[in-house]
Amino acid sequence: MSTAESFPTRLTELEVARLRADFPVLEQKFHGRPLAYLDNANTTQKPRAVIDAESHFYATDYAGVHRAVYELAERATRAYEAGREAMRRFLHARDVHEIVLLRGTTEAINLVASSFTRAHVAPGDEILITEMEHHSNIVPWQLACEASGARLVVAPIDDRGELVLDALEGMIGPRTRMVAVVHVSNALGTLNPVREIAEIAHARGVPVLVDGAQSAPHMPIDVQALGCDFFALSGHKMYGPSGIGALWGRRELLEALPPWQGGGAMIESVAFEKTTYGPIPSRFEAGTPNIAGAVGLAAAVEYLEAIGLERIASHEQQLLAWATEAVREIPGLTVIGTAAEKAGVLSFVMDCAHPHDVATILDREGVAVRAGHHCAQPVMQRFGVPATVRASFGLYNTREDVDALVAGLRTVVEVFR
Ligand code: ALA
Repeated sequence: MSTAESFPTRLTELEVARLRADFPVLEQKFHGRPLAYLDNANTTQKPRAVIDAESHFYATDYAGVHRAVYELAERATRAYEAGREAMRRFLHARDVHEIVLLRGTTEAINLVASSFTRAHVAPGDEILITEMEHHSNIVPWQLACEASGARLVVAPIDDRGELVLDALEGMIGPRTRMVAVVHVSNALGTLNPVREIAEIAHARGVPVLVDGAQSAPHMPIDVQALGCDFFALSGHKMYGPSGIGALWGRRELLEALPPWQGGGAMIESVAFEKTTYGPIPSRFEAGTPNIAGAVGLAAAVEYLEAIGLERIASHEQQLLAWATEAVREIPGLTVIGTAAEKAGVLSFVMDCAHPHDVATILDREGVAVRAGHHCAQPVMQRFGVPATVRASFGLYNTREDVDALVAGLRTVVEVFR
């Protein structure tokens, strides 16, 4: 992933132009300019295929899933389960029962942190995370540590925003019960060597959870090849609906987890004296799920598969390379996150203006970026900045979007200098 050449079959300009036409939101102008949407790490826009799949489902196939015997409900159940199967395929998981459908990455990590800790973590045990985690891979473990008496241990990152692997290895001890690590940092763009981390952890018998929210939309994911034990992702970051995502877990590990939310659909039988729980994955899917969301998620997976994740990765690497090169010319701009292996995220600060002011001026030029701590406050603390401006790329971005970003940054310099 370090160079655009890693995946040689990049999308052509013409293909990107055609893909852009799939996204109705991109037809609008903002402040009289075409929209350069560079906030894809936050959330992605939706192609017509996803929008239409959801609305068609509501119009023709919608009913409650899993319980009813009438034909409409059977159809709805098939459509919902097709979402699960699409996720299995997308992640190259072995078994569809290993896919739990839930709200997204945050809920997936909360599920594991809560259930795994109740089952396997005792006072004095340790959970190992890294300094570059999103709050959603910090706070659930802090809550779990508070509840269990375990200790949170944090592996450091260096000045480029790369994980210090030797330090991480040295922190895995006899009391470590879980290593939870982000695949791609949302604040820095760093791509972590998950396979190597899994080998290190497994050599000591410790399972590995991967926060895949920022990697799944941008590169091919094969959970078996990665060698991790849990992988969490969000549909809304991969051109699918919000409020739907997935947790993949190795069958034997999922089966060893107790339920985390109680209610309908997750039980085998209920009596006041004793309730028994259903098999995976329904054990973790209490209540009526986001049925139409699963349909939209399947449509998003099909959309991405039709383009090819390798080609999307290659395209975004090219955009990152262009942008990284171009911002070198902007006086007083410092890139935060210069790892050798990065996904399409460019975080930076400018010495002439606060990130929020930079983002506000960019907005006036039709460029949408995020400014703030990106739900990764420890990363900001590590680099001694309150916030960064972040441009993050998606499959529909173009050279013109990069040029609009750079032109906007020149305006910032003119305004504030
Ligand atoms: N995690 C999302 C982001 O990075 C919200 O913007």
